[in-house]
Amino acid sequence: MKKRIGILTSGGDCPGLNATIRGVAKACFELMGEENVEIVGISNGYYGLIHNLCRVMQPSEFSGILTQGGTILGTKRQPFKMMTVIGEDNVDKVKNMRETYKKQKLDCLLTLGGNGTHKTSKLLSDEGLNVIGLPKTIDNDIYGTDVTFGFHTAVDTATDAIDRLHTTAASHSRILVCEVMGNKAGWLTLNAGIAGGADVILIPEIPYDIDKVSAALMKRAASGKGFSIMAVAEGAFDQEEAKLKKKERARKREEAGIITATGRIAAQVQAATGIEARVCVPGHMLRGGSPSAYDRILATKFGVHAAKLIEQEKYGRTVAMVNGKITSNKLEDIAGLTKFVSPKDQLVVTAKRLGVSFGDE
Ligand code: F6P
Repeated sequence: MKKRIGILTSGGDCPGLNATIRGVAKACFELMGEENVEIVGISNGYYGLIHNLCRVMQPSEFSGILTQGGTILGTKRQPFKMMTVIGEDNVDKVKNMRETYKKQKLDCLLTLGGNGTHKTSKLLSDEGLNVIGLPKTIDNDIYGTDVTFGFHTAVDTATDAIDRLHTTAASHSRILVCEVMGNKAGWLTLNAGIAGGADVILIPEIPYDIDKVSAALMKRAASGKGFSIMAVAEGAFDQEEAKLKKKERARKREEAGIITATGRIAAQVQAATGIEARVCVPGHMLRGGSPSAYDRILATKFGVHAAKLIEQEKYGRTVAMVNGKITSNKLEDIAGLTKFVSPKDQLVVTAKRLGVSFGDE
């Protein structure tokens, strides 16, 4: 019997989305025969599912996209907490998504996304839809998987940015603060910081004391090293802010006119050390470009595994890598949870043994 498979990409994009779409589609055609599979592309994430923006895709559309960044389906942020809220447009989003699934005669729905996407996937699964998730994000913070696709490419890009900052920091004897994406989790900053040889790494999971950060920079300067590199996660905060709730923290920063964590940090360390400091924000560059070879392989493995789940009609799950093996987790076991960096993580310990400061000791 013919299978109609809906597919959407939701939330912030990342390299490897197209490679995953390709992996799923090609493996479905191989496993079940091209004549038995129809892939329905849903535009712009859950927005497209809510508004029935769907079309049957031709097998040829899945060729030539392995190396392409972004997503051929388009994406949109559709916050989970608003999914069950009926707004001014009077649209019942959950009802609409259920109806699109029915109207399109879908046998299952593939959702490529991060933490927010997975929460909605679980909601739709509870509503009786056959859902399979695929873990994407440059943040690498999806619970239950060793790694998400997009992360490794972003680590490479952020590392390249830090490498380039090294030379200019050295020429000018400056402190260069590189702001790396990651609001809640510091995986990207931690990995790129180590790969780029940062002297200070600040992440949300380890609140910093600015005096300790400055002391580490002074120690470097005193030992004759004229410059320093700091890798700072966009969501980093200090030990005083750690005592506050997220909203309170944001309000206080707004009152103080602080726009970014890194802007304040650069001003503070410059004042404390007397060394000129500059900030660099690679920002969305970290989400762009062609996936690395690692991510192409990972995305392909994840996509092929999803195709196998479809063939076996195993739904309500999300693909994962656990201890290096491709598998899947139940959506109910992972949705709503975040994978944070433990302050005792081997990478943190490794960096500390090198003398990298996290601003906490
Ligand atoms: O979730 C991925 C991410 O890249 C975060 O690291 C970052 O905070 C956020 O997206 C930025 O999202 P956008 O600018 O697309 O709203």
